[in-house]
Amino acid sequence: MTPNSDRVVLALGGAGTVGSGVVKALLDKGFKVAVISRDNSRLERLGSFVSASTKDNLTTIVGDVGTEEGAELAKQALLKAVGKVTDIVSSLGFSWWQGGPPHTQSLKDLQWVIETLLLSTFVSWKTFFPLVRDDPTCTYTFITGGAGEKLLMPGTGFLTVGAASTLAFCQVLREEYPEVACKLNQLKINTGVAPPERMAPGYLNHLHLGEGVAALVERCTSSHSVFTVSCPDDIKTVLLEGDL
Ligand SMILES: NC(=O)c1ccc[n+]([C@@H]2O[C@H](COP(=O)([O-])OP(=O)(O)OC[C@H]3O[C@@H](n4cnc5c(N)ncnc54)[C@H](OP(=O)(O)O)[C@@H]3O)[C@@H](O)[C@H]2O)c1
Repeated sequence: MTPNSDRVVLALGGAGTVGSGVVKALLDKGFKVAVISRDNSRLERLGSFVSASTKDNLTTIVGDVGTEEGAELAKQALLKAVGKVTDIVSSLGFSWWQGGPPHTQSLKDLQWVIETLLLSTFVSWKTFFPLVRDDPTCTYTFITGGAGEKLLMPGTGFLTVGAASTLAFCQVLREEYPEVACKLNQLKINTGVAPPERMAPGYLNHLHLGEGVAALVERCTSSHSVFTVSCPDDIKTVLLEGDL
């Protein structure tokens, strides 16, 4: 098995709530990690959030992976900086949306939701998947939300529409590429995720979730699997210990 120190993980959305927990845990396990964000100040915050002793293993790149040109530019900058990518974790999107019921919304609102949740996931997958596709020691992990299966509460409809489109996209990839060498997996989170200072009842601590995702990436065994996490205990049983 390739040692973690020889593995380079691209964390798409790695500056976000979910992604930053994943990035910290991967670095703590000895992986090298690269993060692309549109916002340099978010990348700087990420740099001071990770363990100081691992900071040298973190590469940050300012870029927009939601457009074909932006993603291509980011890929060139990434390869120049890190040389190769062995693993990809994609947690693109946003944390929460409760803009109101559909009749109060504009087409622009729906376009933003689809762009942020689905189009960035698709464009970045199309751009970066070729880097890992043909290697059985490589992984591509999508982090998705159970919000795509039901309305979480009144006014969150477009969150459901966007999250559902990402769930469907992951299903399509599993079915269109049944034989692909790279380990292609999806993690579906059925509850809120937050940093320790913003935890609410039933929420997952992003640090704890990050440890679970890092264990899944490290293990590199299953493929075409959907791992469902609905409560903190699931992180242990589903991700850390690897039961489906
Ligand atoms: N948070 C939760 O409670 C929760 C629960 C269940 C599932 N999830 C899943 O986790 C995903 C991420 O949630 P989160 O809470 O981490 O959201 P977040 O804090 O808003 O982070 C999302 C990240 O996606 C990045 N992003 C979006 N579009 C991009 C683009 N075009 N180019 C580059 N980066 C882009 C953002 O980067 P910038 O820095 O460029 O803005 C940001 O860092 C969700 O979409 C959902 O599938 C979250």
